[in-house]
Amino acid sequence: MDINPFDLDDNETYLRWRESKLKDYPTKFDNLLVEVNNPRKLRQREFDALQQRCRKANMAVYVGKTGDDPDPEIPFAIARQFGVSGLNKNWLADENALSSLTVRENGVRQHYIPYTNQAINWHTDGYYNSPEKQIRSMMLHSVQKAGSGGENSLFDHEIVYILLREADPEHIRILMRPDALSIPPRLGEYGEVARKTETGPVFSLSAAGDLHMRYTIRKKNVVWADNPETKSAVKLLNQILTGDSDFVFQILLEPGMGLISNNVLHNRNAFVDNEKNSRHFFRSRYFERLRGTGVSEVYFSL
Ligand SMILES: [Fe+2]
Repeated sequence: MDINPFDLDDNETYLRWRESKLKDYPTKFDNLLVEVNNPRKLRQREFDALQQRCRKANMAVYVGKTGDDPDPEIPFAIARQFGVSGLNKNWLADENALSSLTVRENGVRQHYIPYTNQAINWHTDGYYNSPEKQIRSMMLHSVQKAGSGGENSLFDHEIVYILLREADPEHIRILMRPDALSIPPRLGEYGEVARKTETGPVFSLSAAGDLHMRYTIRKKNVVWADNPETKSAVKLLNQILTGDSDFVFQILLEPGMGLISNNVLHNRNAFVDNEKNSRHFFRSRYFERLRGTGVSEVYFSL
């Protein structure tokens, strides 16, 4: 595709894409749901329904019948069907490269928020990864929900882009700067550098022209480019995220349900486990976008 809606110098293409993107955009969470008979082997019409939602909103939720079956083949099979395979095995992932998110009382994981019952604020996954290992798609599969709480909120990063560009396209230009956001190094047990500083843009475009967002709203362990224009762009971005937008979907994934997404912005409410219900989610992250959901595939007629 020679033209790209995310090109700041081509407002006409952007406006045409924006109109098409917002037309029939889901207004309720229910619009994202698709009932499936067997997530390990989706029927064509189930796959089509899920893919169509991802093409529109970068996310969809399947409602399966597997209940609390903890078979890792469920998320693996979903990923295969969506054509993603470059699994990001982060250092806390299980041996099979899938992260099993539960509350941990022991070991190194207990020190990391995903493995506690605390709230997690707005972010996209892998914002601390190197540029070549950015996460383009992220899946969650619920094996068990918490006794109470643990809802996720989801916000399509392309919509956030639209809201920011509408306010002032300069905000986008500033957040596309290669030094916009730095994540300081993670130190290992002995104070050694386990992961170096990662600096990069918030918004970037892939080789195929798709929009990627690398972001966390957290204040600690985050260094923003030190200038007034970055400060004001980030301030507005944070206001959009915390401003109770109609475009935010809040979901509670019941056992057997799962999120398929192009790594949209998300957060998690705090939760409380009880004897009957201990929250257990599988999370998987891939370097590729979901099959058939690229901007040139969805909006090729632009
Ligand atoms: Fe996340």
